[in-house]
Amino acid sequence: MRVLVQRTSGFQEFEVPREPSQTVLDVVTYIQRRLDPTLAYRYACRVGMCGSCAMTVNGVPRWTCRTHVDRVLKDDALSVGPLKNLPVIRDLVTDMRDFFDKWARAGGQFKGGRTKQDDFAKVSPQSEERTLVDAGIECIGCGVCYAACDVVAWNPDYLGPAALNRAWTLTKDVRDKAKMERLRAVAGDAGCHSCHTHMSCTERCPKQLSPTAGIAGLKREVTKAVLRGEL
Ligand code: SF4
Ligand code: SF4
Ligand code: FES
Repeated sequence: MRVLVQRTSGFQEFEVPREPSQTVLDVVTYIQRRLDPTLAYRYACRVGMCGSCAMTVNGVPRWTCRTHVDRVLKDDALSVGPLKNLPVIRDLVTDMRDFFDKWARAGGQFKGGRTKQDDFAKVSPQSEERTLVDAGIECIGCGVCYAACDVVAWNPDYLGPAALNRAWTLTKDVRDKAKMERLRAVAGDAGCHSCHTHMSCTERCPKQLSPTAGIAGLKREVTKAVLRGEL
């Protein structure tokens, strides 16, 4: 197959043999190990856990370790580039600092009220809060949703789907004590109200999460807090 790689220096074409069950990450690894050792890319787990291998594949952001070539190959050709909406360090490696700084700006840190002397919090698995949190915390921080979001492209200050999804899970976490502080953090111009509900994040998330639903939930919580005079 023909593989077009978007490198810092421009596009470069490679010929890579097809293998059974080959993933896009296998293809990039083959290029780096057999054809050009200067190619920079990033991965760690190879099993869909660490979130570090995301790239743009044929124009679409994807986790490459779980994307089979069979699913994405077009006319025996593949294009691979770095994730969009993030600065490129080199070749396929993006700088994730903005992405994770935004998690902090969105109040993405858990702030509990218990000490180690207290008993464990008991949260019923059937409760609405637990169900909502259980879905959202499966985020692996891969940045696919962020790269897919047009609002991030238009407004680089926008907190983006992953940070807001994180804020949503903590807002619904009954053990967390910083709810109002967090709602204040996401209520600003670059926060949840900037989301245009395009759903690209939800369509692309490889963990089948729905940041769009979480962001809609944050909008509701912010509105209720404003109506109550708390924000
Ligand atoms: S739903 Fe919102 S956060 Fe998700 S891609 Fe669309 S604008 Fe971005
Ligand atoms: S919400 Fe999904 S796409 Fe976005 S960072 Fe988390 S796992 Fe990746
Ligand atoms: S290498 Fe860890 S998710 Fe792909």
